[in-house]
Formats: sequence, C-alpha cells, structure tokens
Amino acid sequence: MKNVILNNGISMPMVGLGVFRCSEEEAYNAVKSALEVGYTHIDTAMIYENEQAVGQAIKDSKIDRKNLFITTKLWNEDMRKDNQRNAIETSLKKLGLDYVDLYLVHWPVKEKYIASWLEMEKIYKDGLAKSVGVSNFLIHHLEEIFKVSDLVPAVNQVEFHPYVVQKELTDFCKNHNIQFESWSPLGAIKNGLLEDPTIVEIAKKYNKTSAQIILRWNIDKGIVTIPKSSNKNRQLENISIFDFELTNDDILKIDSLDKNERVGSHPDTFDF
Ligand code: A2P
Repeated sequence: MKNVILNNGISMPMVGLGVFRCSEEEAYNAVKSALEVGYTHIDTAMIYENEQAVGQAIKDSKIDRKNLFITTKLWNEDMRKDNQRNAIETSLKKLGLDYVDLYLVHWPVKEKYIASWLEMEKIYKDGLAKSVGVSNFLIHHLEEIFKVSDLVPAVNQVEFHPYVVQKELTDFCKNHNIQFESWSPLGAIKNGLLEDPTIVEIAKKYNKTSAQIILRWNIDKGIVTIPKSSNKNRQLENISIFDFELTNDDILKIDSLDKNERVGSHPDTFDF
C-alpha cells in the first residue's frame, strides 16, 4: 500500500474500500474480508446506513485503531437542520469510535455548505476528526470556502473515472494542496468502462485486469481511490496494484477517454 500525506500531515492510504449501497450485512462482510486481505482504509457515510456494521467489523477484526483510516460524511439533511455536531457524534457512536480519520461534507448544499464548513473547523479542532474535507465540491464551491476559512479542506472526494476526468478541478485541488479522491473509480461498472477497448488493450499489455489498470491510473495521477467491492477476490484484485506503473503514454491514453459523462449526480444540480 502506498500512502499520501495530507495538508495537515496526516497519512492516508491511497486505496480504501467504499461501502456505498451496501446493506448492514453486506457492509459487515465486505469490511471484514477487506481487513483480512490487507485494507486499512474504509469509506462510509451516514446516509449509507451501514456505519454500525462497519464499526462492528472493525471491532471484530481486533486491528489496532491507530492502524486504520476511517472516513464518514456529514449528510445534507444534517446541514439543512444545522445539526452538524450532533451528526458526527451520532456517526461516531454507531461506528464505535472516538474519532474518524476523515470527516467530509458530503455534498455542497446551497446556503448551507459554508456554515457547515465553519462547523467542520470546530469538529476538527475538538479532535472528533483527524482531518476534515469535502465531497462533490467544484472549484466555485472551494473558492467560497476559502473566503470564510483559513482551514483548507484536506480532501475533495468526487466522482472520477476515465469517462469523467475533470482536469481543471484536479489541477485546482493539486495547486491548493487538497488531496483529490475518487468515488466510483470503476464507474460503478454501469458505464461499460471495464470493457472499453483502450482499457482492455492496456490491461493485456500489463497482464492486469481492467479494474487494476483504472485503479493504478488513479495512483499514478496521485489520486486516492475507494473502489467498492463485496467480493473478497475482487477486493484483493483492487489492492494488488503496487507492483507496476503505467507509462506516461498510457496515462495520457486513458486521460483521453474523458467524455464528461457521470454515473452520479452533478454537484450543481443534485436534488437530495
Ligand atoms: P462487487 O461488489 O460484486 O465486486 P465503483 O467503486 O466504481 O462504484 O464500482 C463498484 C462496482 O464494481 C460494484 O458493482 C462491484 O461489484 C464492482 N467491482 C468492484 N471491483 C471490481 C473488479 N475488480 N472487477 C469487476 N467488478 C468490480
């Protein structure tokens, strides 16, 4: 595993397990097997309704808390109700943890994300989260945060895969020392990414799977990624990407697949 150092000095493993759309039972089993095959980074959210199962699997693994990196997220309704502090306390209780390693503002809820960021500052200062960041923020959202706060988000977690590359946003984050993190790095496999002829050709060349090529492309671009898998073999496949590197040429070939096509909502038009 390779780690990155965030803008506050905290070390973050570059591959984690995402558990979006996992029931409690599926999340428990997924986290349990992921921790067995060597994951140390788990990404959940209040809205996934599986924090309790994630926490139980962490507890049952008996792995030293210090060696794990756990992310959860502040949900939109908790922003609308100005319930930020209570939200993290509830998440921590469900997870059975004293702190999370990363707490993210889940979506830039209009008229609420700035006030929420000021609450995130307090949550960070009080040690409930070792780092705080944002998710689904575009450049204009980040610029608004810079106007009111000296605390630069440690991370921006957004939908990112070869069909939605968002070069301007990745460059902006890099220039401002905000770690870029990808959700749905495999396009939730809904969009045929794993069968894309360019990806398949590159996979053949390196003798790796399409998923491994896409995930390694993240690593080679300095991007943290959280592929979701409930299958132990695929979990192992997704972290077995540290024994090769893509050439610059192949990175550019994958970059050029961009068609600005999302599988999830757009941060300016989401309606939840
Ligand atoms: P499963 O949980 O059965 O492994 P994303 O992280 O982009 O949202 O993608 C998640 C989807 O991709 C899930 O349906 C997951 O199914 C599938 N998936 C995860 N890893 C792989 C892999 N290495 N090869 C094929 N499908 C994968």
